[in-house]
Amino acid sequence: MRLDKYLSGQGFGTRSEVKKLIKSGAVFINEVSVCDAGFQIREEDLENGISVSVQGKEVGYKAHRYYMLNKPAGCLTATEDARGKTVMDFLPLSAPEKRKLCPVGRLDKDTEGLLLITDDGDLAHRLLSPKRHVDKCYFAVIEGIVTEEDVEKFAEGLELSFQALPARLKILEVDAEKKESRIEVTIQEGKYHQVKRMFGAVGKKVVYLKRISMGNLVLDETLKPGEYRELRREEVELLEAE
Ligand code: URA
Repeated sequence: MRLDKYLSGQGFGTRSEVKKLIKSGAVFINEVSVCDAGFQIREEDLENGISVSVQGKEVGYKAHRYYMLNKPAGCLTATEDARGKTVMDFLPLSAPEKRKLCPVGRLDKDTEGLLLITDDGDLAHRLLSPKRHVDKCYFAVIEGIVTEEDVEKFAEGLELSFQALPARLKILEVDAEKKESRIEVTIQEGKYHQVKRMFGAVGKKVVYLKRISMGNLVLDETLKPGEYRELRREEVELLEAE
């Protein structure tokens, strides 16, 4: 693999950012400065302990891949589907490269926003574990006027077909004429249609839903729906500390 691709995959920035970094002389391989972005790094070199450092810091060999997708509406959160488009179709990777990747958690077909896709099963398991109560924050447009009473009900924990954990509901804007509200809601669970069901329980309807964060990971708003990027090293570290 090319050196720029490897470092980009390690979270050192986009391919063009990394190319600049390499040109600046900041990258050393086995203590020799390498300024050629096309320098070839082989998987077995990494496994055999080749030393790569950037700005004096050793780059650990990252065995896993982490992508942030701004999921567009209209595709399924699945690895494959015979009939429709899935979130995996937005990653321009070969079939073998995609084989071990899985979306972390599920967004409805009509929901947009942050979706982590990774082959790091341990991290995925930790983020999804019901015991860990990892916060998921959503922006939503609601048909109806969301009130302070709703905020309190969410904070107490709504009774759905199960007892939902307390959720933080923040009213951003209410349009009394259109009878529409813009809100942010943070939930600690990820049950099927949870946000929609919570608003249903207070007699309102979600007309647009977008996930903006999951734990410490925040959607990169420069990504348009359907765009993705690899996570930066600090983002992976933050998720690991979750
Ligand atoms: N809650 C929902 O209702 N739908 C989603 O896609 C995510 C959370």
